[in-house]
Amino acid sequence: MANLLATKPLKTILNEAHETGEHSLRRALGPSNLIALGIGAIIGTGIFVITGTATAQHAGPAIILSFIFAAIGCVFAGLCYAEFSSMIPVAGSAYTYGYATLGEIFAWIIGWDLVLEYAFGSATVASGWSGYFISLLGDFGIKLPASIAGTHWDEFVFYNNHWENVTKIVPKLRLLGIDPATLPHAHGVFNLLGFLAILFCTLILVVGIKESANFNTGIVAIKICVLLIFIAIGGSYLLGHRELMAANWHPFIPENNGFGQFGMSGILRASGIIFFAYIGFDAVSTAAQEAKNPGKDMPIGILGSLVICTILYILVAGVLTGLVNYRNLNVPDPLAIGIDATGVRWGSLLVKVGALMGLTSTIVVMLLGQSRVFFSMSRDGLLPGMFSSVHPRFRTPWISTLTVGIFVAVLAASLPIDVLSEMVSIGTLLAFVIVCAGVWILRRRNPEMARPFRTPLVPLVPILGIMISLTLMLSLTQITWIRLGVWLLMGMVIYFGYSRSHSRVQRNPGV
Ligand code: ALA
Repeated sequence: MANLLATKPLKTILNEAHETGEHSLRRALGPSNLIALGIGAIIGTGIFVITGTATAQHAGPAIILSFIFAAIGCVFAGLCYAEFSSMIPVAGSAYTYGYATLGEIFAWIIGWDLVLEYAFGSATVASGWSGYFISLLGDFGIKLPASIAGTHWDEFVFYNNHWENVTKIVPKLRLLGIDPATLPHAHGVFNLLGFLAILFCTLILVVGIKESANFNTGIVAIKICVLLIFIAIGGSYLLGHRELMAANWHPFIPENNGFGQFGMSGILRASGIIFFAYIGFDAVSTAAQEAKNPGKDMPIGILGSLVICTILYILVAGVLTGLVNYRNLNVPDPLAIGIDATGVRWGSLLVKVGALMGLTSTIVVMLLGQSRVFFSMSRDGLLPGMFSSVHPRFRTPWISTLTVGIFVAVLAASLPIDVLSEMVSIGTLLAFVIVCAGVWILRRRNPEMARPFRTPLVPLVPILGIMISLTLMLSLTQITWIRLGVWLLMGMVIYFGYSRSHSRVQRNPGV
């Protein structure tokens, strides 16, 4: 039992972090790259797609409060990530922090759990990406066969010259008085666009961290501009039409009609759902081994991206619910609907292009996170050595990146992504719980260690981080908990079948 809880000595971890040479990752990222990486991962499906459903079905205009509540939970976890990633600047993120503090079995669990966040997360986002792309092609009169527009589980109806995912279009059809049963129906086979989007992002990541970061920074600038334009156009329209805003914001918290449907419980449920919109700031920590000055810059990257996105989200949510009555927001493209309400005709095209950009960079950063976590696990012997092989010219973990990319592309193309998106949230929240607990444990166990960034008010902040994360986890469905259990069980089989006997820490204790 004792060796299941073997910890990896901090000295070893820090020595590895300072390795240089052709088998190490390239230290190329400065503070602005790191903030851009964070924003790149954060702004995506959450704000562009999920906000609409959460507003229409759970919170109404009080979605603003849901965004604030979820942000508070993320800030507590973000402060803990900032301390860890500045003191242990290695690619493994929460996995390595777990190895240093809680022991190998917990490190394995957290590494395996991060697959849910990063690999399943990028697959989920790729699915949203293909939805937006199909919609954009439709605007230009280009129709795709349903067979390559979604997975076997996706059902489509032919409406407005293109195939629309039935779960997303039905509310809109009802509003227009159209019976979906009267439209042609078809099932998807292979989500080709999602598959290709993942392969494209994988190739960028193989070519180089600097190239990936520059690509990401360019896209991030565009997607921030799109959100700012949305806020500016919508906000100035509302200033001239205050009565519209007053009407749409009344009641601000719609009356509760069952647990999770409006009222206070609805605000909480919506927080659990739109928590997805904040996922990604922690991915910055997986780039710690590629940061030029991690001690100073990791906290800037993590907390800076989180604060910028929180402000943008609250403004977008306020403007959106002011422009459109919350009941009409159960659509796949809520921001496009919002801007349509102002009468600016090019607005919805702009939002769609911005969403596509946004989702692309989310995929890039999530894939980056996954390959870096596998890189670290492989270096520790818990995964086969090929996952830590660094390309001599590109200096990227190319085999890890390619393997992850192909696995995720197949996931995106063939699995019912709707079901898996809750898995992403539960997996991420579990990582937050372990990271918050780890900061507290390490403060007690190694109080003397240099901490370039110190989480304030320990243990209060970690405890609040754990409590809010657990509350959000509890707001997710029972089936998601069961799936999490099955996933972790699969991880245990691999751990006891392979990793335990290959672990470097087990073979060389104390080294
Ligand atoms: N936060 C990311 C998104 O909203 C995962 O797509």
